[in-house]
Amino acid sequence: MSFLPISYKSPRVTVIGAGRVGSTLAQRIIEKNLADVILLDIIEGMPQGLALDLLEARGLELHNRNIKGTNNYAETANSDLVVITAGFPRKPGMTRDDLLKVNSKIVVEAAKNAIFYSPDAIFIVVTNPLEVMTYLTWENTGLPKHKVMGMAGVLDSARFETFIALELGVLPADVKAMVLGSHGDLMLPLASSATVNGIPITELLDAETIEKLVERTRKGGAEIVELMHTGGAFFAPASATSLMIESILLNQSRILPVAAYLQGEYGLNDVFLGVPCRLGSAGIEKILEVNLNDTEKATLHTSADSIVNHINTAKAILKNQ
Ligand code: NAI
Ligand code: 2OP
Repeated sequence: MSFLPISYKSPRVTVIGAGRVGSTLAQRIIEKNLADVILLDIIEGMPQGLALDLLEARGLELHNRNIKGTNNYAETANSDLVVITAGFPRKPGMTRDDLLKVNSKIVVEAAKNAIFYSPDAIFIVVTNPLEVMTYLTWENTGLPKHKVMGMAGVLDSARFETFIALELGVLPADVKAMVLGSHGDLMLPLASSATVNGIPITELLDAETIEKLVERTRKGGAEIVELMHTGGAFFAPASATSLMIESILLNQSRILPVAAYLQGEYGLNDVFLGVPCRLGSAGIEKILEVNLNDTEKATLHTSADSIVNHINTAKAILKNQ
């Protein structure tokens, strides 16, 4: 890899929350040579130590992006992109929605502080429960809808593709599958449009096996939480988030499943839900409406109803704090 010229102005990404997802994401961003990173956490010294450790690997990993750890939002000023990973992950037996109470407050505080210093940034939310936290970020930054999005569909699709690849013994990169809807038990892995290099998986696997893979995808996050006991997945979530960042910073116009604000698309309003989006330098440049059967449409609507309920609960919690 060639080093960047001294005069080159690197894009700047702030990652809020230097825990497992945030620190791994920071590593992915600089080691993929995408941007300079400001890593912020509430714990004093921790993001600074992580940033120094990552900086010391720079000459070995052959990139020359900068990384700085901080506890002070002023140091995040003028970021092009802000990623919110601050908050708690699930413990075994806990649902994503159990996290609502604790994480709402953290995410609203992060969103308000970050937008103050980076009014032009695009925001990607990772903290769970994903769609509710993305809504709160959108509402509290006051940004237009195309500049706020949630990461979940890229991760859930990667899991679905992995399970299909493992079942067939093929290269995961040859499998293309999309998971829409909510980041929870009602997520919608689209088996009917999943392919291996263009061959529908329905021609390669029987219905029972496909259903097994769909179920494993729906429970993909929980499977890792159960195995690890302490916290959840972070390597693949960081990879999925960095893919979105790459599409935005490099204006790649990739079509990715992203939690986007819906205003009539799929017959839904005033809710964030995972749908195929074109991601480029403006953020969400287009929401694509794909054909869904009646059961799939019903699942999307049931997810949206549940998310709206949780948004209202979160707003009530925040109002009473
Ligand atoms: P973690 O516990 O390792 O890290 C969270 C970090 O947030 C901690 O370092 C903590 O000090 C920090 N934090 C807490 N309050 C803060 C505040 N007010 N300001 C700044 N930082 C603060 O957790 P992990 O594993 O990194 O997960 C983070 C979140 O991402 C969780 O809510 C988890 O459920 C979610 N997640 C979402 C995924 C998705 O697909 N959307 C995938 C994986 C995780
Ligand atoms: C995951 O799906 C916990 O949302 C997180 O791994």
